[in-house]
Amino acid sequence: SAISILPGQQTRVQQYFAKLVKGPANTLTELPGSYLGPVLRFQTGQKIRITLHNQLDELSITHWHGLHVPAKMDGHPLYSLDKGQTFVYEFEMLNRASMNIYHPHPHDITGKQVYHGLAGAILVNDEEERKLELPSGEYEIPIVIQDRRFNDQNQLIYAHGMHDRMMGFYGNRILVNGLPNFHLDVASRAYRLRVLNASTARIYKLAWDDNSPITVIGTDGGLLEAPIKKSYVMLAPGERLDVWADFSGRKVGSQLVLRSRPFSGALPGMASRMGGMHGNALPMGSDYPIFSVKVTKQAGDSPTLPKALSKIHHYTLADTANPQKPIPIGITEGRMKMVLNGRPYAYNDILPNERIPFDTVQLMEIFHDHGGGHGGHKMGGMGMGMRRGGGDSDSGHKMGGMGGGGMGMMMAMAHPIHLHGQYFQILSRSGGEGQGYASVKDGFIEGGWKDTVLVMPGETVRIIKPFQDFKGLFMMHCHNLEHEDMGMMRDLSIE
Ligand code: C2O
Ligand code: CU
Ligand code: CU
Repeated sequence: SAISILPGQQTRVQQYFAKLVKGPANTLTELPGSYLGPVLRFQTGQKIRITLHNQLDELSITHWHGLHVPAKMDGHPLYSLDKGQTFVYEFEMLNRASMNIYHPHPHDITGKQVYHGLAGAILVNDEEERKLELPSGEYEIPIVIQDRRFNDQNQLIYAHGMHDRMMGFYGNRILVNGLPNFHLDVASRAYRLRVLNASTARIYKLAWDDNSPITVIGTDGGLLEAPIKKSYVMLAPGERLDVWADFSGRKVGSQLVLRSRPFSGALPGMASRMGGMHGNALPMGSDYPIFSVKVTKQAGDSPTLPKALSKIHHYTLADTANPQKPIPIGITEGRMKMVLNGRPYAYNDILPNERIPFDTVQLMEIFHDHGGGHGGHKMGGMGMGMRRGGGDSDSGHKMGGMGGGGMGMMMAMAHPIHLHGQYFQILSRSGGEGQGYASVKDGFIEGGWKDTVLVMPGETVRIIKPFQDFKGLFMMHCHNLEHEDMGMMRDLSIE
């Protein structure tokens, strides 16, 4: 299927229509000229009712990525609607101030539907955030980054051959808020950029082109305790960044470009040797612009960056119900096989380790499972030996021969792993390997709340996550949407 994104030529068939029934006037903002859904703005504590009406000729259901809602309101594929059916969501906004996402979640076709425009940003605001008086109104700008592939008629292409499924689908153009060559005219003052990677598979290494640091004030789950300055920040599909962009020292007429900078290691060597990508895609890890900024007017006054932003309770092992026995989330990569915990997604297929006692805080471990599945991790004695150690990249290839289904070479790539339900915290990362790792490792922001974490080849990431308020099925999956659609997804049953 192909739709045009030329202004004035878009089909509205595959867009979200949203109607504001009741609430503050700014609950819904259209992004002008964009195929993306409108930005939804909510307040913590607000009661929300949203009616979804499926007008597509295929199944769909909307998920509120990042929001802490009851299982039935979470957009589980189980509740997918046929054409013409309606689903009424009702929930209370329990989240703190944060940027979240709405996007479809029908099994097997999430990537396709997001690709064709079914996605949008959710901004939640609360008292704590309001007190900081961060840049708002025209000075708070959503930056939704996506890559898309166009044919010579400027139509979207979403190919789905084996290579696109295994590596993820990569576009030949970068769009921001649904527009190519995105540009902002700004005043010489501070802005707040709400950045979301809504690409299906592409990972970005974001940096300003004049090498000034990028100032991060928040992540997936809202504000950090204090701003963090980085020379670059990695942003994987599903992840968000709250960026303080201060143009106050800049002269009228000066320009700045946010770029994605070179990195490697996120795709297997095989893919790099093939020129990185299929077709004429922009190679991931090459150097390209995301959007440009020009200072066009002098501002009188600019807000200053707060030194303290928020208070965060940092979880430790002592907070968890299982400090000795992490819940395993094993990544298995093989020929035409991208799964978690050794099994492709299937409804009602809950493994013992995927049952989580309600109202607990759990230690979870995301790791590359070369032992052929679930049993290989904590249960079998072989588990530890099969896993790759830091820097010993050879062992990965040997193990790959055993677990990879005769590919002769282990697939090793980065996966953004996402968990539904409450936000989590990253406890530790270890084992990142290969020369590529050095080109990304300083770009992770770890101190705040997250719902998606980029796991590089060889890496083991430990997280701590609460499972409170709601029982039922909550998904975890790779947010490389082509991987998700291959079945790299499991249900966690909170019971
Ligand atoms: Cu944005 Cu289940 O994900
Ligand atoms: Cu989600
Ligand atoms: Cu993946």
